[in-house]
Amino acid sequence: MLGSTPGWPAVLADGPVLLRPYKRGDARAWSEVRIANQKWLAPWESSPPGPWAEMNSTRAYAYVYQDMKRSARRGESMPFAVCLEGRLVGHINLGNIVRRAFSSAYAGYWVDARVAGRGVIPTALALAVDHAFGPGGLHRIEVNIRPENRPSRRVVEKLGFREEAYHQRYMHIDGGWRDHLGYALTSEEVAAEGGLLARWRRVRA
Ligand SMILES: CC(C)(COP(=O)(O)OP(=O)(O)OC[C@H]1O[C@@H](n2cnc3c(N)ncnc32)[C@H](O)[C@@H]1OP(=O)(O)O)[C@@H](O)C(=O)NCCC(=O)NCCS
Repeated sequence: MLGSTPGWPAVLADGPVLLRPYKRGDARAWSEVRIANQKWLAPWESSPPGPWAEMNSTRAYAYVYQDMKRSARRGESMPFAVCLEGRLVGHINLGNIVRRAFSSAYAGYWVDARVAGRGVIPTALALAVDHAFGPGGLHRIEVNIRPENRPSRRVVEKLGFREEAYHQRYMHIDGGWRDHLGYALTSEEVAAEGGLLARWRRVRA
């Protein structure tokens, strides 16, 4: 039902990392970070239907923004801008949300190479998962990762996601159908520990 999406909109924060819905005014920051990171992001994303610079221009952002807004309003996704010390540096989305007996979503993410290795995305994913399992009313979060994407596999491994599947030719990424490893976590698995952020803080300490 429109206007009653559990858990959306939301602003989530831990230290310098803040997750918030996108704004119309993010066009310039989004376009700058996407264009600066073409080589870093392209191997892990679906092939754009046009040149990278064009697909990630401030003009393209207007469409991306409307699309994210529409899908969030329908309750199909929770697309967050990831900010570090107030600057937009990445993205995390809980997508393909299916409710009722499944109550599940897929998480996808990226971060600016200039701030990689600082735990921004594990923190963002922990925040998003705790939110999904709490106000979002979901039960399960999946992350699908190309086997060769070591940094992304480290993110889910550090957070204790279960590796549970090998999907052959699963998604069309960077120009071809690519195998993916399936990782997942259900709410029961982190409830006893006080949530995924609490677990991540212990791992980090
Ligand atoms: C995967 C990704 C989101 C990780 O985000 P992050 O905030 O850097 O995560 P972390 O800080 O926990 O680092 C994860 C791993 O990246 C690697 N790493 C660290 N610094 C790095 C750097 N400067 N450059 C490349 N990789 C680095 C390390 O292996 C690290 O694991 P470790 O903590 O065991 O050493 C980021 O690498 C990225 O955006 N990659 C391109 C897009 C992508 O792959 N998205 C996910 C698709 S499934």
